[in-house]
Amino acid sequence: MNLAEVLQGHRVVVCVGSGGVGKTTTAAALALRAAVDGRRVLCLTIDPARRLATSLGLDEMTTEERVVPMALFEAQGLKPKGELSAMMLDTKRTFDELVERYASSPEARDRILNNEIYRYVSSSLAGTQEYMAMEKLHAVRQNDRWDLIVLDTPPTTNALDFLDAPERLVAMIDSPAMRWFVQAFQGAGKMSFNLLGKGAAFLLKGISQFTGGEFLANIAEFVTGLNELFGGFRERAATISESLRKPDVAFVVVTSPAPMAVREAIFFARRLESAGLADSGFVVNGMRPLLHEPSVPRSELLAELSELLPPGADVEAALTRLENALDDERLLAVGDRIESDRLRSQVGEDRLVVEVPAFDQDVHDLRALTEVADYLVGKRQMEAIS
Ligand SMILES: Nc1ncnc2c1ncn2[C@@H]1O[C@H](COP(=O)(O)OP(=O)(O)OP(=O)(O)O)[C@@H](O)[C@H]1O
Ligand SMILES: [Mg+2]
Repeated sequence: MNLAEVLQGHRVVVCVGSGGVGKTTTAAALALRAAVDGRRVLCLTIDPARRLATSLGLDEMTTEERVVPMALFEAQGLKPKGELSAMMLDTKRTFDELVERYASSPEARDRILNNEIYRYVSSSLAGTQEYMAMEKLHAVRQNDRWDLIVLDTPPTTNALDFLDAPERLVAMIDSPAMRWFVQAFQGAGKMSFNLLGKGAAFLLKGISQFTGGEFLANIAEFVTGLNELFGGFRERAATISESLRKPDVAFVVVTSPAPMAVREAIFFARRLESAGLADSGFVVNGMRPLLHEPSVPRSELLAELSELLPPGADVEAALTRLENALDDERLLAVGDRIESDRLRSQVGEDRLVVEVPAFDQDVHDLRALTEVADYLVGKRQMEAIS
């Protein structure tokens, strides 16, 4: 299977990988390709670089989905047979929308939205962004306006965070400690230390001395509110995890050729497998291409260089420096090749691994994305190093 078939044969394609390896670029390039080939695609991006967002017709202020205007395609000589929409994922907004949709009354809604702990959790708690990406995916999947959704995922220092996020968030919100807080709070109408065991009461008093009783009350209110809201976060997270296991969901593991990123990609693929999620392929993005040795005699190079350099310059020394720099570049290219081959041999020769070269410039416009997509779907391939 190649990535063109993956795009053709799935409803959802999730790009995962560690920070900065090219997930957003890959997601946008895949979405663009699928739209050009005739599918109605939604690309759900997270923190795209500003210039990329502009290229996709997203201005900074909006988190609504936007159809990429035909004029933007035409300007690049592209004629999509399908349609591309793009959306920026806004974690807090997604969370707020959930609260608005499920709150039992306007009062309950406001109580949660105005709760300080909620404000913190919904915007800055580790794992919330990952969880909300899943929530958003779940929501847009119900909409048959799109026949393909390409999901970008947030930068995490450890790619595993992404898969664990729903569980971790749930564990935090729905933990015995939290439930105990809630019970203590609700049992007495307010936090009653007398009802608790001695040790716990001592601990709580200690906490409230530092943080004020209000903090505890806020937590209790927040947890009670959320549980009421979602009928148990746990069930909700289970439903969402479940929906990721459907056969119409593909995972693409993106990595750079850096040894650490490759190690993490291998680890992540195993983690996906053990979680019952199948990855459909790997992308090694940013491979440095092999620069060829010049085929002209050295004497000619010296002559050419002396014309470029100011009079009196040490042309011989300059050429030697250039040759050394070229050697270094070639070594780096060979290093990238070794890493890519290592990935291939570790995940199994039968698995799909595609390589995308490092371009001279950042990938920010539709033309550059098209070029990336050509490599992703195998229309172009990097030169092998013999
Ligand atoms: N093959 C490439 N050649 C040149 N530049 C690239 C290439 N791939 C990505 N870039 C650039 O590298 C930067 C990081 O890429 P991108 O945003 O896709 O990574 P990411 O994995 O989404 O990062 P984060 O984890 O921070 O979200 C961007 O500026 C992008 O334009
Ligand atoms: Mg990104």
